[in-house]
Amino acid sequence: AMGAVLSRMQKPLGGCVFLATAFDDRLFHAQDSASFSRSYSAKVGSVETLEALVDLGALDFVIGLSSATTWGNIGQTNYTRQVANTIMEGKLARYHNAFSIAAPAIFNTTSMTGTVTTSNAERASHLTTWALSPEELCNCLEDGILKLQDGPFGVYVPALDFDVITESLGPSHLYGHMTRGSQQQGAAVDGEDLHNVLQSLVLQVVDVAADDFSAEVPLTTYGLDSLTAGRLSSALRPWVTLSQMQLLGDMTFAEIEARVAKAQQPKHEEGAPGASNADVAAGAAELERMISKYSIGFDVNAKRPTGPLLPNSVILITGTTGGLGSYFLAQLLADSGVSRVYAFNRPSEKRTVLERQAAGFAARQLDVSLLSSKKLVFVEGDATASQLGLDKEMYETLRRSVTVIIHNAWRLDLNAPLKTFVPNIAGTRNLLDMARASPHADSIRFAFISTIGSTQNWRDLSQQVPEEIVQDASLAVLRGYGEGKYVAERIVAASGIQSSVFRVGQLSGASDTGAWSVTEWVPEIVKSSLKLGSLPDAGGMVSWLPMNKTAPVVLDAVFSPDSPPAVFNLVHPRPVTWHAMMSNLAKSLSAVQGRTFELVPFLDWLNELERLSATLSAEETQAIPALKLLDRLRIYAEACPPLSSDFTEPELRESGGWARLSLDKMLAFSPTLRAMREPEEMIGSEEQAATFVQYWRRQGLLTSA
Ligand SMILES: NC(=O)c1ccc[n+]([C@@H]2O[C@H](COP(=O)([O-])OP(=O)(O)OC[C@H]3O[C@@H](n4cnc5c(N)ncnc54)[C@H](OP(=O)(O)O)[C@@H]3O)[C@@H](O)[C@H]2O)c1
Repeated sequence: AMGAVLSRMQKPLGGCVFLATAFDDRLFHAQDSASFSRSYSAKVGSVETLEALVDLGALDFVIGLSSATTWGNIGQTNYTRQVANTIMEGKLARYHNAFSIAAPAIFNTTSMTGTVTTSNAERASHLTTWALSPEELCNCLEDGILKLQDGPFGVYVPALDFDVITESLGPSHLYGHMTRGSQQQGAAVDGEDLHNVLQSLVLQVVDVAADDFSAEVPLTTYGLDSLTAGRLSSALRPWVTLSQMQLLGDMTFAEIEARVAKAQQPKHEEGAPGASNADVAAGAAELERMISKYSIGFDVNAKRPTGPLLPNSVILITGTTGGLGSYFLAQLLADSGVSRVYAFNRPSEKRTVLERQAAGFAARQLDVSLLSSKKLVFVEGDATASQLGLDKEMYETLRRSVTVIIHNAWRLDLNAPLKTFVPNIAGTRNLLDMARASPHADSIRFAFISTIGSTQNWRDLSQQVPEEIVQDASLAVLRGYGEGKYVAERIVAASGIQSSVFRVGQLSGASDTGAWSVTEWVPEIVKSSLKLGSLPDAGGMVSWLPMNKTAPVVLDAVFSPDSPPAVFNLVHPRPVTWHAMMSNLAKSLSAVQGRTFELVPFLDWLNELERLSATLSAEETQAIPALKLLDRLRIYAEACPPLSSDFTEPELRESGGWARLSLDKMLAFSPTLRAMREPEEMIGSEEQAATFVQYWRRQGLLTSA
């Protein structure tokens, strides 16, 4: 029968998933040759049948659906341990392109719901506490197929909760080391008491009653946000160092307890030295897997097209409702060389896109009347969906007419883990697919707004980060935001169109109007300083680019008659010291507030902030927005060069430990950036600081101390 199926296939066989299964559960003494044979032929028989007909080793992938109950389950001697599944696993392990998956129970399958008798279902009910949905299983299959690219492996074990498995299958030496219980063994923890202390601390922070609280539910489900995570992080410090980002990464109370227990082990029992290197290596491997997944079908060796810039540009730009997007949109609408601008944004239930855009323009003192331009077409869609979530007609209009894509929309959350950026990465791929399917794919220009965070681990101070795709993913591993951008950079660069990545550095407020969003970290430091009466001082330079200058520099390159290169770095070409910038801000703030603001070393400033927060009510801490950034600011402050550094040109070091970036290509393509080397363009000059402070005053940032 299998031969007949194969002979009817129109296209060559690409891969195979062995799903066939037959249960005949009985206690061991009741098993007979028939019961063994039933399970055996469904599993091993299927593999042997196909092996006889096709060369399994020549397929793209081969997957055997094995079972997590190979670790032992009552009544399944025939099905699992040592027999059907185990033999199938062994057979497939011989192929470099094959793996078996130790699948737990799968919901909504006939073996779980349809064919089992009531008594069987009761017996199997303990398996459902750690079952996967079919969708989750498919994700594992996809992950396994991608993992094959790193080399063969025998069995894929999904990320399961082994404590629950222990409860349902009983303890086993096969997975005992994966349980939390094992991690806590030998920990020098004052058991019950410490548990109670930690739990009441967490309950207090998330403000939940003990009866409504589960140790296994992520704290974010109870409303943990960056502010409360900062408080929890410092409250936990006597026992364990857990950053805001870790706490916000779906951490549960049970995990916190496990970390505390681990932290209390004698030092020599901790992980081997270099464990953090292993974490970085694992993180880099994860990024590489994502890059492979989202560049499937791209030919990295394809020659980059060099078609000319097409006249009367038709622009598709994403994320125009945000800060940078507003400046892009204003400039594009005022540009006579641009014939149409499709402003692509996600819909909002609260306000129309025009209302949001107008508010964004007004907040930045941009000309709101530009929004009545006939050139402007708002498009609301979902970049992650097929055809960008648009109807066929609109998608086709974009595909056929657009000559320049500026992909600027991105979730701007520096604390969020990588997985939350997957929709942004998928959306990037969909936009690239549209560009590749354009009738003028050779000429279309694709600008991707990235960040210097994509090379956030660059620590070689003797070398500048080059304006090239950096092939070492470990340089991006640290925070989900930079990691996601790194993945997208690599995908954009592999897309085979005229794409340019713009690695944008920290942006400051606008140099002309002083518009600097009050929800950004520098204004939040200034706001928090009102309580402390001082501003933080640090060593190092700042190369922050004013928000209003970024779009013109990018557009210089996008509209260049010469084909732009694959990567640009974009920071201020005339850096200034943090100390000079903060001194100027302190001067302006003192003038506006009528009291003197001193500069104190950054770490002292943070310690004082933390000390103060412990004495305030939750409501009062709202006036100190820097508290929700404590973690990030501490990392930044610790990475700043010493304050006393005598900066000379070749030794210039960036504050916050950031690397210096090569700007040669960006300077060559942008007259705007070249002009910014003049002294009057310097960021944080006395005049500019006064403009920022005036803007914040008008926005009400400086009112309540
Ligand atoms: N600000 C900086 O210092 C800085 C530095 C380097 C690079 N960048 C990059 O510059 C670009 C613009 O940043 P910005 O400062 O203008 O940020 P922003 O003010 O937060 O604007 C972000 C834009 O992206 C949209 N967006 C956010 N999350 C999204 C999602 N999950 N799906 C679809 N759209 C989403 C927002 O739409 P809504 O209005 O609907 O939220 C908004 O239009 C981003 O790519 C950012 O990574 C910024």
